[in-house]
Amino acid sequence: MTEGTVFATSQRTHRCGDLRAEHAGTAVTLGGWVHRARDLGGLVFMDLRDRAGLVQVSFNPDWASAQAIADAAAVGVESVVMVQGIVERRPAEMRNPDLATGEIEVRATSLRVVGPAVTPAIPVARGKNDKLPAEDLRLRHRYLDLRRPELQASLILRHRLLQVTRAYLSERGFLELETPILTKPTPEGARDYLVPSRVHPGEFYALPQSPQIYKQLFMCSGFDRYFQIARCFRDEDLRQDRQPEFTQIDIEASFIGRDDIMALSEGMIAAIWREAGHEVPTPFERMSYADAMERYGCDRPDLRYGLALHDFTSAFAPLDFVVTKSAIEAGGRVRGIRVPGGAAWSRKQVDELEAVAKSAGAGGLLRVKKADGKLDGPVAKFLTPEAEAALALQDGDLALLVAAGDRVSSPALDRVRQECARRLGLVDEHARRFLWVTDFPMFDQDPATGALAAVHHPFTAANPDDMAAYPDAPAKWRALAYDCVLNGLELGGGSIRTSDPRVQSRMFTLLGIGDEADQERRFGFLLEGLRAGAPPHGGIAFGFDRISMLLSSGSSLRDVIAFPKTTAARALFENAPTSVPADDLRELHLRSTVEGA
Ligand code: AMO
Repeated sequence: MTEGTVFATSQRTHRCGDLRAEHAGTAVTLGGWVHRARDLGGLVFMDLRDRAGLVQVSFNPDWASAQAIADAAAVGVESVVMVQGIVERRPAEMRNPDLATGEIEVRATSLRVVGPAVTPAIPVARGKNDKLPAEDLRLRHRYLDLRRPELQASLILRHRLLQVTRAYLSERGFLELETPILTKPTPEGARDYLVPSRVHPGEFYALPQSPQIYKQLFMCSGFDRYFQIARCFRDEDLRQDRQPEFTQIDIEASFIGRDDIMALSEGMIAAIWREAGHEVPTPFERMSYADAMERYGCDRPDLRYGLALHDFTSAFAPLDFVVTKSAIEAGGRVRGIRVPGGAAWSRKQVDELEAVAKSAGAGGLLRVKKADGKLDGPVAKFLTPEAEAALALQDGDLALLVAAGDRVSSPALDRVRQECARRLGLVDEHARRFLWVTDFPMFDQDPATGALAAVHHPFTAANPDDMAAYPDAPAKWRALAYDCVLNGLELGGGSIRTSDPRVQSRMFTLLGIGDEADQERRFGFLLEGLRAGAPPHGGIAFGFDRISMLLSSGSSLRDVIAFPKTTAARALFENAPTSVPADDLRELHLRSTVEGA
C-alpha cells in the first residue's frame, strides 16, 4: 500500500504535500487549509496545506472558471477548501527547490470553500525571518499554533517514537496494561491532585503521580513484564522542564536485576533515538552517586564538558585565612573548579558567577586567578606552596572555590560549573553523553531533626550488603536505584523494589510511618500484595515528553505536548483551572474558603 492509498478517501484523492513530479497529468481532489494566496489580477496562486505539506494551486482562466478564480481570490487564509485539478510540472524557471512539491503545481478547475475561517488570531504562515508570536498568545490559540509545520512535525515524531517504544517492549514480552486514573491519595514525594467524590461525601480520589504501586501489584499477580505509556499528575512547583501532567514510559519486570533493566532500557533508548535518525552506542557509561556528587556536585552531571570539582581541603587546612579556616573547622571542605582562561574575566563577570553560587545557597565564591605568573585574589597572600601546588593553576586560569559543607557547596559549584561551561562555549550541542547514575543513598537525612526521607521512593530496595554492614545506620545504606541521564537531564529513574513485606514494613517505619494501622491504611493494598507471594522485581520510568523534546526541534516540553500547561500550571486555551459555581461545589460536598469564589 502506498501513502496515497492510505490517505485517499471518498472525498480526496491525495494529500497536498505528497504530490511529486511523477503525479504529472493526474486528476486530483485535495482538501486543505489556505496557507497563503496571491491574487495577481485574474490569476490566483494559492499555497494549500495539509499534514503532509504545501502544494501550489494555480487558478487561471485557461483552466478554471471565472467563479473559481473569484472564490480563490476572496477566500480567507486558514479556510478549508476542496480543490479539483490536474497536477502539472512547473516550467523550469518556476520550480521551487525549497518545497518537496516544488516541481509541480495543481491547475485547479474548481474550488469549494468547506470550512471558511475567521481572520486567524495569530498567523500560521511565516516568512523565514518572521518571529513567532508571544508564547502566551500561541498557547491561548493552540488550535492555530498546532497548524505550524514545526509543531506538526514534533507531534508526528512523538507518535513514531511511541510506536517504536511499544514495538520494542512488546517484542520482548512486555504487556501493555492500564492502571487507574482515579486512585487513592498516597503521597509519593510530590503533591497529589485530589478529586472529590460526589457519591461519597468528604472522600477523595487522587490522580496518580505514577502507576508505581499498581505495577508492583501486577508483578505480584504474575504479569511478569509490564509497560504502560502512563499519564502522571504532580501538583509541584513548576520548572521549565516539568509539566503538572506528563507522560512516562513505565516499565516493571520480575526475576530481574539492575543490569537487566539497564540493558533493556539501553536497547529501548537506542531504538527510540534510531527512529529519530541517531545511532546511540551502548552500553552507557556508569557512575556512582557518590562519584557524581564528588566530581560534579550533582546527581545528573552533564559530561559533555570537564570542569570537574576538586577537593582542596587538606592543602587549605593550615592557611590562616578566615573564610576557609572557619568552614573547615565547622566540618566543611574547600572545593572548587579550575577555569582555563577565566583569569581574563572582569570583576563584574566573576561577581555574576558569585551571584549564581549565592542563589544556590553558598555564602560566597572565592576566586584565585593566575595572570602573568602571579596569583591574585583575597586568599592569594595566604597561600602556602602546598596550597599553590594543589590549586595547580596555569597562567590564565581562574579557580572558583566554595568553603562550606557539601550540602551547600555541591549545588553551588554545580551551578557555577554549568555557567562557566556555557560562557566558555564548552557545551557541544551535538554531543550525547548518556550516563547511568547508580547507588543513590537510600535516605536523605534532615540535618536538624535526623528524620529520614526516601530519596527515590519508599518501595525501593536497599543494598543488602549495606543493610548487613550497618544494620543500625540506615542513613548509610545505598539504594538499588538508578537514574538514566543525558547531557545533564534526567531521562528516567527506577529501582529494584523491596519484595519482602516485612522489610517493606520496616522501611515505612524508618520513614516515620511506624504505626502498623497507619501503614495498613496507607499502603495496605501493596503490603497485602507482597504478602500474597511476591517475586523479586524492579523497574524504571522514563519521561517521554523529555525524550520527545530532545529528539524534536522543540526547546520546551510545551513544544511536544499537544495541549500543555504554562509554567504557571494554566491551560490558556481552555482557561483552566477555573472557579466553579457554589452549587457545583455543594454537590461535591465542598465549600471554597477563597473569598469571592
Ligand atoms: P520519577 O519520579 O523519577 O520515577 O519519574 C520518572 C521520570 O519521569 C519524568 N518526570 C517528569 N517529566 C515531566 N514533568 C514532570 N513534572 C516530571 N516528573 C518526572 C522524568 C523522570 O526521570 N515510579 C517511579 C519510577 C520507578 O521507580 O519505576 C517514578 O515515577 O524524566
